[in-house]
Amino acid sequence: MTIVVFGARGRVGRQVLGGLLAAGEQVRAATRRESPDFEAVTADLERPDTLVPALTGINGVFLYAVPAGIDGFVTAARAAGVRRVVLLSSASVVRPGARDTPISRRHRVVEEALESSGMEWTFLRSGMFATNTIGLWSRSVRRESTVRLAFPSAHSAPVHEADLAALAVAALTTGDHSAKAYTVYGPESLTLRDQVGAIAAATGRPIAVEEVTEEAARAQMSRSMPEAVVAATLRTWAASDGKPVETSTVVADVLGRPARTFAEWATDHADDFR
Ligand SMILES: NC(=O)c1ccc[n+]([C@@H]2O[C@H](COP(=O)([O-])OP(=O)(O)OC[C@H]3O[C@@H](n4cnc5c(N)ncnc54)[C@H](OP(=O)(O)O)[C@@H]3O)[C@@H](O)[C@H]2O)c1
Repeated sequence: MTIVVFGARGRVGRQVLGGLLAAGEQVRAATRRESPDFEAVTADLERPDTLVPALTGINGVFLYAVPAGIDGFVTAARAAGVRRVVLLSSASVVRPGARDTPISRRHRVVEEALESSGMEWTFLRSGMFATNTIGLWSRSVRRESTVRLAFPSAHSAPVHEADLAALAVAALTTGDHSAKAYTVYGPESLTLRDQVGAIAAATGRPIAVEEVTEEAARAQMSRSMPEAVVAATLRTWAASDGKPVETSTVVADVLGRPARTFAEWATDHADDFR
């Protein structure tokens, strides 16, 4: 199998690239802009005319969901003889209450194009990434040792990007996951306050949680997230305020080892908050 990783600079993509290299696979990295860390071909999923160098000689693809251009991608991938595609998708496509949102629709459009492509596909429908907390909280943790939250008791089950990457590597390198859509939540339901506590423990420094209004939280989050993502995140937190959320055993079921906990994620990323 020769595999191309699109979005190889991304948080998940770069771990997929590393995992495939560690597994001894033939891998090509594709990015829109050059990376100082590795050699890559330049390709933009929104511009199918740029995809030929990335896809030539390739059997397997790791893909981010980029709806604009997905039809062009399918045409180019089929022409290149690609057999298998693993898509990083979103749990919003199956979560009640999230199905008809812009986030869900943009992932579903890509899923549908792959389902009817004739290629083998696997979807990793992820819940909230643990890495979201970096964009949301690291600045105020570093500057003020404080996290401001509208819903400190909201639960989520954050997913470690290394687990998503490990699932992608398994799906790309064996034929066992064809036509499977895995909904991937983290292994434990934690309040946002608990998550801040885990980051404090990992960094070895206390972090205060300050409760703010939803409007103040919206304004703050909009600095690091698109409007639709802010709205979806606040809606999700409001709905899970004080209520444990669904977790999943997919990592253990597929990989035969436990999923990484949020405390492990915080240890892996402590420097992002120092
Ligand atoms: N955040 C969440 O909680 C969550 C939950 C479920 C699913 N997701 C999915 O995960 C994605 C974010 O993953 P991440 O944290 O790894 O993101 P990230 O670090 O921001 O990386 C996104 C990657 O997507 C690639 N990309 C975007 N547009 C592209 C295009 N037109 N052509 C080629 N590549 C393109 C980028 O490629 P370059 O390297 O070329 O810049 C980049 O590497 C979201 O877009 C969503 O689909 C996120």
